[in-house]
Amino acid sequence: MMLTRGRCIIVVALMACSPGVARAAALTTQQCLRCHDVMPASGPQTPVSLSVNSKMFKSSVHSMLGCAGCHSDVKAFPHIPAPKKVVCLTCHGEIETRYSQSVHAAVWKKENLKYPACLNCHGNPHGILAKTNPESPVYPLNLPRTCGRCHGNPALARRYGLTNVYALYIDSIHGFALSREGLLVAATCSSCHGAHRILSRTNPASPTYRANIPATCGTCHAGVEARYFNGVHGKALKAGNAGAPACTSCHTVHQIAQVQAVQWQLKTVATCGNCHRQGLRSYRDTFHGQVTALGFVATARCWNCHRSHEILPPSDPASSVAPRNLVSTCGRCHRGVTASFVTYEPHPNPHDRALNPLLYYAALFMNLLLLSVFAFFGLHTLVWFVRSWFEERER
Ligand code: HEC
Ligand code: HEC
Ligand code: HEC
Ligand code: HEC
Ligand code: HEC
Ligand code: HEC
Ligand code: HEC
Ligand code: HEC
Ligand code: HEC
Ligand code: HEC
Ligand code: HEC
Repeated sequence: MMLTRGRCIIVVALMACSPGVARAAALTTQQCLRCHDVMPASGPQTPVSLSVNSKMFKSSVHSMLGCAGCHSDVKAFPHIPAPKKVVCLTCHGEIETRYSQSVHAAVWKKENLKYPACLNCHGNPHGILAKTNPESPVYPLNLPRTCGRCHGNPALARRYGLTNVYALYIDSIHGFALSREGLLVAATCSSCHGAHRILSRTNPASPTYRANIPATCGTCHAGVEARYFNGVHGKALKAGNAGAPACTSCHTVHQIAQVQAVQWQLKTVATCGNCHRQGLRSYRDTFHGQVTALGFVATARCWNCHRSHEILPPSDPASSVAPRNLVSTCGRCHRGVTASFVTYEPHPNPHDRALNPLLYYAALFMNLLLLSVFAFFGLHTLVWFVRSWFEERER
């Protein structure tokens, strides 16, 4: 350890006011603190902070270990040889093993950063608190801010090609419930990502890998998860269909909104339509679709007829849109629904003769009528024009 001039002055001063220290066999925590509590925090003279706040240390989870619990090599003063770096691994081997597989450990190694990576989330090494302590940086209510120190930093996001997640999350229903309502059961970063073994979304073992997302959300939304896997979308995802929607396809990842929010309700019709173009196009031609297009929500959108999670093809007798269930499905909003009412076509497609023969011929007839009317009057106007030209010339 290099002793700068500033440090030399501190050493001499401290030795002078701590008589007995130099002769002690092994220093007690109290003796260590008597010097380190009054030491200056890092500055130009002391590049490493030598100050250990005794009040903070006494309330930390490690206080019962004493200084020697971690700095077991520091026995006397002056500290010769120079104190070794403390590694958390000595006592938390199991966590270190999980952590070492994470994206964070990989980036730490690549960037060759020296101080224990654990401190990024757990804070000051001398003030580490239990995860259940409301003051801890990893307490659920504080965690988004802790991860957000990096994941709310646009420069870091750009450098690693990541989304600046913190801002999106904090405005979401989960972020709102957590930060405004103090709801401990709302999803915080570690509910979906884990704490130590955080993996990339492209790693099939990650809870955020596409195929694992429903189970991750399902740890809290168990009822929805079960219905989703009963429906076509869940079955298709399980079967490995890359085009099937996971929860986040409809709800987004970090920006999840309350489902009754008007903006989300209107946007989600287009989300279904991204994958079901024909379904959306024909829906737009209906009464329900036109009302939605005007920005009103008091009408039927895709999921009011198809359900939101337990979606089944119309050919499945259990489907809400199977012919025999239409009276009850439409009847949720329309009073006194009869079998003839439900013959109303919710997906009129005048171009599909097999699916909608009546509509097809009606549209064909109307188009022909339109065409012949235009043709007749077009001809009529032409003949009229020729006649007036002759009349003009005669005059
Ligand atoms: C008489 C005052 C005094 C006492 C008592 C004392 N220290 Fe120090 N400690 C210093 C000073 C001054 C430095 C900086 C110069 C140096 O490294 O020797 C220092 C440095 C350190 C460093 C490392 C500095 C670095 O740059 O890496 C550690 C760790 C440390 N002390 C831990 C302890 C522990 C643990 C105890 C009790 C077992 C203790 N100290 C007791 C004064 C003291
Ligand atoms: C839970 C283990 C633990 C305990 C207990 C502990 N320390 Fe530390 N201490 C650390 C870690 C980790 C660092 C940061 C070391 C690093 O940067 O590699 C550190 C750093 C220091 C430093 C600054 C040196 C540096 O390199 O930044 C001093 C001084 C120090 N400790 C003194 C003490 C004193 C005095 C006590 C008792 C009051 C104590 N420590 C108790 C883990 C501990
Ligand atoms: C990316 C942030 C992050 C890093 C880095 C991190 N932790 Fe944690 N740690 C957490 C969170 C979040 C919790 C709380 C987990 C929970 O609520 O279940 C936690 C909890 C803990 C606990 C409590 C016991 C447990 O399993 O829940 C210990 C011990 C711990 N961490 C030690 C470490 C050690 C040692 C390291 C370094 C190898 C480390 N942590 C690195 C975020 C982190
Ligand atoms: C000398 C062994 C030792 C070292 C080194 C050590 N710890 Fe601990 N740590 C413990 C013990 C023992 C406990 C349990 C305290 C308890 O249960 O009250 C603990 C508890 C914790 C907790 C709280 C667990 C909880 O229930 O929420 C965290 C977080 C933690 N340590 C993080 C760290 C970090 C980070 C480091 C490295 C800077 C570290 N520890 C170094 C022994 C150690
Ligand atoms: C409700 C679950 C959930 C919560 C809460 C959550 N995430 Fe995510 N996160 C995911 C999923 C799922 C993905 C994968 C998204 C994908 O495939 O594009 C992801 C992706 C990420 C990514 C990489 C994606 C990218 O586009 O760069 C980062 C970084 C991230 N999350 C950080 C966080 C942080 C920080 C928090 C807390 C502020 C958080 N997440 C909260 C589920 C969640
Ligand atoms: C000290 C800064 C820092 C902190 C604190 C931090 N991260 Fe990260 N995180 C990074 C960096 C840098 C990367 C990029 C790693 C890479 O792409 O190689 C990363 C990557 C990630 C990824 C992987 C993105 C992907 O899919 O490729 C996720 C998920 C993630 N972090 C979540 C979290 C969560 C959750 C927390 C809080 C518990 C957290 N991070 C705390 C710096 C941090
Ligand atoms: C195909 C799109 C889609 C997928 C995939 C999807 N949802 Fe939904 N979800 C919706 C719609 C639409 C609603 C709104 C229903 C309404 O207005 O009542 C909704 C509502 C919800 C609600 C509010 C409660 C409720 O049932 O109305 C939760 C919670 C929810 N979804 C979670 C999930 C989870 C978890 C998954 C994955 C297992 C998931 N969703 C998959 C479209 C989807
Ligand atoms: C840790 C538990 C937890 C996890 C994991 C979780 N959520 Fe939530 N979620 C909640 C809680 C609690 C609420 C209710 C918040 C409120 O009402 O204030 C909620 C609300 C919602 C809502 C709004 C429901 C409504 O009635 O408007 C949707 C949508 C939602 N979550 C989707 C998801 C999706 C998608 C995932 C996975 C990517 C997920 N959640 C993961 C706990 C969780
Ligand atoms: C990410 C693309 C995607 C999104 C978004 C999506 N779906 Fe699907 N949907 C599929 C796929 C793929 C299938 C086919 C599953 C199969 O046949 O195995 C399917 C099947 C269906 C079926 C059954 C059709 C049939 O003929 O079997 C209905 C009905 C349906 N989806 C309605 C919806 C509704 C309503 C929404 C919006 C709430 C929606 N989908 C959102 C991809 C999507
Ligand atoms: C008023 C109720 C209602 C609304 C609203 C509705 N549908 Fe349908 N949908 C049905 C019925 C009934 C069927 C079965 C008869 C048919 O195909 O016309 C069906 C069939 C489907 C099919 C399967 C077609 C096939 O040939 O297998 C898909 C896909 C579909 N709808 C998607 C959507 C999408 C996407 C939306 C929103 C843009 C939507 N639906 C809105 C009632 C509705
Ligand atoms: C979520 C409620 C809801 C569901 C489910 C629903 N509708 Fe509607 N429907 C409405 C409302 C509200 C109107 C009034 C105009 C508007 O605002 O769109 C309407 C208008 C209509 C109209 C035109 C006006 C009229 O009353 O004659 C027809 C036809 C119709 N719906 C048929 C159906 C059929 C068939 C089904 C079932 C396949 C169905 N609707 C399911 C809410 C619903």
